[in-house]
Amino acid sequence: LLSVSLIGLTVAAASTAQARDYDHVRIGVDVPYVPMEYRTAEGDLTGFDIDLGNAMCEQIGVTCEWIEQEWDGIIPGLLSRNYDAVMSSMTINDERRQQVLFSDPYITMPSAWFAASDLDIDEANEETLEGLTIGVQRGTLQDNYVTDKYSSVANISRYSTADDMVLDMDAQRLDIVFLDFPIGQSTLVENDNGDYTIVGEQITEPKEYFGDGFGIAFRQRDEALAEKFNEALATLKEDGTYDEIYARYFGE
Ligand code: ARG
Repeated sequence: LLSVSLIGLTVAAASTAQARDYDHVRIGVDVPYVPMEYRTAEGDLTGFDIDLGNAMCEQIGVTCEWIEQEWDGIIPGLLSRNYDAVMSSMTINDERRQQVLFSDPYITMPSAWFAASDLDIDEANEETLEGLTIGVQRGTLQDNYVTDKYSSVANISRYSTADDMVLDMDAQRLDIVFLDFPIGQSTLVENDNGDYTIVGEQITEPKEYFGDGFGIAFRQRDEALAEKFNEALATLKEDGTYDEIYARYFGE
């Protein structure tokens, strides 16, 4: 009797292992992360990821729904089926590959340090960061890197959202922040809240932290769905849609 019911269990497990056929795809995203995902003054969701994601869904012929989720819980939310994909400036790296299946990279972005211009350092290293308070978004690769490299010399403040971090920067509760380059560029440098500058070079190495570009994350078993997004990305790159969306947020 025991062996009979065990066989039954095996069959049930095998059928749930098959990828669902999706006609409605729910995509998890952590907002705001300007210019990748944010809301306009009118409250509409927009940004490079949003426009590209919507174009991909249209290309595939599925309806898409964006579901907001704070970064720290974004992979757990995918694994517990709160949504079917994550498109949220997520860097593809080996640690995450253990948990999720990534699409092909759709864009590559370096990381960078940003500080008030009067901090007056021209490089971030163990000496110049000593005693400073560094801001990062909790659970990002930037958090991992700064924690591993500088927690013995500096104080690290971790934020649930990138905008809370920017607010604390404006309130001078932080000396310096480390984040994906275009986000610091748009929210600090090109914003008139204060006088911020990039400190040092843009950072892309080591790969172990800085990964292989941004990808859409899926559950491991949803290979067919990931494949559809890869095909859609290739088509949008060929037909000029990708370039058009890119130019919208990053210029020609
Ligand atoms: N690219 C970084 C990472 O993967 C940070 C992404 C944060 N994304 C966001 N929408 N807040 O760790």
